[in-house]
Amino acid sequence: MPRHVAIIMDGNGRWAKAKNKARHAGHRAGVKSVRMSVEMAAERGVEYLTLFAFSSENWARPEEEVSALMNLFVEALRREVAELHRNNVRLKFVGALDELNPGLRNKIAKAEAKTAGNSGLRLTVAIAYGGRWDIVQATRALARRVAEGEMAVDDIGDREFAAELALSETPDPDLLIRTGGEQRISNFLLWNLAYAELWFSDVLWPEFDREAFDLALSFYASKQRRFGHTGDQVEAVGC
Ligand code: IPE
Ligand code: IPE
Ligand code: MG
Repeated sequence: MPRHVAIIMDGNGRWAKAKNKARHAGHRAGVKSVRMSVEMAAERGVEYLTLFAFSSENWARPEEEVSALMNLFVEALRREVAELHRNNVRLKFVGALDELNPGLRNKIAKAEAKTAGNSGLRLTVAIAYGGRWDIVQATRALARRVAEGEMAVDDIGDREFAAELALSETPDPDLLIRTGGEQRISNFLLWNLAYAELWFSDVLWPEFDREAFDLALSFYASKQRRFGHTGDQVEAVGC
């Protein structure tokens, strides 16, 4: 079982189009796939689930779609947080949250505070997030520390860099799932995905179900993860 699963939830718009519905109907229909993924991850003992809900680049979509998405995030938080809390889920949001409207920011802060003491699944939602944004903000934080004399340039290594990223408290994803048929990263966790196993599913996000999730988990189970070592080395260690 992967410890950390990250998902690019793609295909809502195409799902809606195929049904002659507006794009926002596709986003709305995707909420049940989110619910299912959270439930299943918790059941299977996945420790961290990270969902890509809105990218830095998605701000460029038609205003109507962007505002429908923001409203949907507020509504989903209103509806789902109590249940997540009952299920011991710890919620965290990452991204340029200062770009969000105050109402949504407020809901996010409350949801995080309410679930902060939970010890079950760690659910991270990436909103207004971009891998490049993340790398730039980490670089700024490190540069600031150097400028203030807190650390030397040569003290900066992988570990110090990762500690400034949005997912600093989360191990790297073991498995990345992207639904919707595209085989690209679309500026998701550029640093953190270095050694993730990549699973691309043609299923559109609103139709992503237990069976589709299971396929991804079996693919993961079939992989030998070598992290640069040889297969023989990995077998000798017995992992
Ligand atoms: C993913 O579905 C949701 C977001 C990016 C917010 P899309 O809206 O990208 O769906 P397609 O790719 O147009 O089908
Ligand atoms: C990636 O999907 C972002 C999210 C799922 C939130 P996009 O639909 O924005 O990606 P591209 O534009 O097809 O690469
Ligand atoms: Mg898309």
